[in-house]
Amino acid sequence: MRILRRAPLALVPALAALALAPVAPQAVADPTTPAPVTEPAPRAVTRLATDEGTGGAVTSVDPEATRIGLKVLESGGNAVDAAVATAAALGVTEPFSAGIGGGGYLMRLDGRTGKVLTIDGRESAPSRSPKRTMFLDPATGDPYPFYPDLVTSGLAVGTPGTVATWEEALERWGSRSMRTLLRPAAELARDGFEVDRTFAEQVEANADRFAQIGSTAALFLPDGQTPAVGSTFRNPGLAKTYDQIGRQGAKAFYRGRIARNIVRTVKAPPVLDGDLPVPPGHLREKDLKTYDVRVRKPLTLDYRGFEVHGMGSSSSGGSTVGQALAILERMPLSSWTDERVQHAVLEASALAFADRAAYVGDRDFVKVPDEALLDPEYADERLCAVSMAQATPKPLDAGDVRRYDGRCEPGAEREGTSVEAEDHENTETTHLVVTDRWGTVVSYTLTIEQTGGAGIVVPGRGFLLNNELTDFSLTWKRRDPNRVEPGKRPRSSMAPTIVTEKGKPLVALGSPGGSTIITTVLGLLVDFIDRGQTLEDAVAAPRATQRNTVWVDAEPAWLEAWGGDLEPFGHLLRETTLPGGEIGAATGIEFLRGKQVIAVAEPVRRGGGDARVVDRR
Ligand code: GLY
Repeated sequence: MRILRRAPLALVPALAALALAPVAPQAVADPTTPAPVTEPAPRAVTRLATDEGTGGAVTSVDPEATRIGLKVLESGGNAVDAAVATAAALGVTEPFSAGIGGGGYLMRLDGRTGKVLTIDGRESAPSRSPKRTMFLDPATGDPYPFYPDLVTSGLAVGTPGTVATWEEALERWGSRSMRTLLRPAAELARDGFEVDRTFAEQVEANADRFAQIGSTAALFLPDGQTPAVGSTFRNPGLAKTYDQIGRQGAKAFYRGRIARNIVRTVKAPPVLDGDLPVPPGHLREKDLKTYDVRVRKPLTLDYRGFEVHGMGSSSSGGSTVGQALAILERMPLSSWTDERVQHAVLEASALAFADRAAYVGDRDFVKVPDEALLDPEYADERLCAVSMAQATPKPLDAGDVRRYDGRCEPGAEREGTSVEAEDHENTETTHLVVTDRWGTVVSYTLTIEQTGGAGIVVPGRGFLLNNELTDFSLTWKRRDPNRVEPGKRPRSSMAPTIVTEKGKPLVALGSPGGSTIITTVLGLLVDFIDRGQTLEDAVAAPRATQRNTVWVDAEPAWLEAWGGDLEPFGHLLRETTLPGGEIGAATGIEFLRGKQVIAVAEPVRRGGGDARVVDRR
């Protein structure tokens, strides 16, 4: 299939505006919303949004992390080695988005065989998690408020999966030891790095809660202040933790003193005097000792002659992106006007989110109907609920995955009766993509959930704990696939993706952004495959997100570019309240003929990422 590469003219002014726009002031809507940091002015940090060449490539949100990953490739390491080293470095420089206190999903395509496998390193609920009452305050019997009680709590801490993911990946596919690969990140933590605007903003946004947790305040608010932009930040505790994991492997984390420190911190968070409730959690040493990753095939969908490999449950990323694509494949998008394509994407995304809420949870606990969700006949039937001429009021109902024949019943197009699914997700998380000289590709999304995670640093260990269990439905319902259960993984939206053509990589990508990850990845794929944009343009393009909600949330530049065209369809459009007015900070690699690749990082959002190839030509 030929892909036409072009930037839609309508986007160009909006893109220019986005690129030139100053960092937008942040509305402080909740404790994880960044506030502006005004001084001192940042030193220029070299970042490359796009790089082209051969010999391998790394793209991430951070120049130090990309540099460390690239060095691994340059010294003969493979894509998995470089991905682990890059992720470890992100734990140092992006500690509020990812780190060893959290979890994630790693997807790998083997350059020789074309085989794709995934590692599910999602956090799991402690074995003693109460089912119905997990998120109820025992003092009152009422649900804990999301802010501030649940967000900053031991209660929301799931058993971390990141270190186990690294070990599994290296044992299966690595060519270097954990010790070698964690060393550069340990050095970075020990020697320090230059604080950038994003780091400072994220501390500032969390400052109220960080100040009330002794270990967190000591690390991230030295002298009670947010580290200044341009200053050097050091994390010797994390350096030592990395050294120890490097020497002893994952068992250093899941057993022994670090594990005991984690459990003690979850059960008795080191709260200073203040008004933050910080409920304790249920994690036990046994949960850490018995934690295991899941290695599985990806969820693969044929889309317009390509194979789209997505992340299966416990993430909803693969099935929800895949279902929306399955619906969109019923339409000749490449011959449609841009606004018609935008409308179709919004409607398909709402349909897929309706089914996600009804059917997708951790597949170790729930039978996820992946086959139906990606079935063209089911897609035909789901299309009956919407019109390609007019937006259907949201939220839409879920379809019936047990009984469908692809035909429309009379009256199928109707107003939904559902209620909006709970969604507390934020701009959290980070995504990196690596390829090596052997053509192996790693697409890896990792997180500690909210920006700043649970807000609790394990004392002396230098890393924040996740608050991933807030990704469960907070109200317990019998039929909810995402209700909390002991040992279960909360449903994720993370969507590391690799697209192949006859087994050869075409593009690998992913994004941060909670549940907006799904709509960002969907938009990237449609822009790249159907609208013929370059990956570079797709990553930079303005975004909107429709997750089966009454309103479509959009970036200001998207509203400027598309608002006028989309309103006649009846969509209710509004500016996103996400920090900075930004949706997603994606990274990806596009594979050209021969061994040439184009590595792409976000140019503007979150201060811009960094993409580099080994041999530039
Ligand atoms: N915590 C973000 C996600 O799992 O999608």
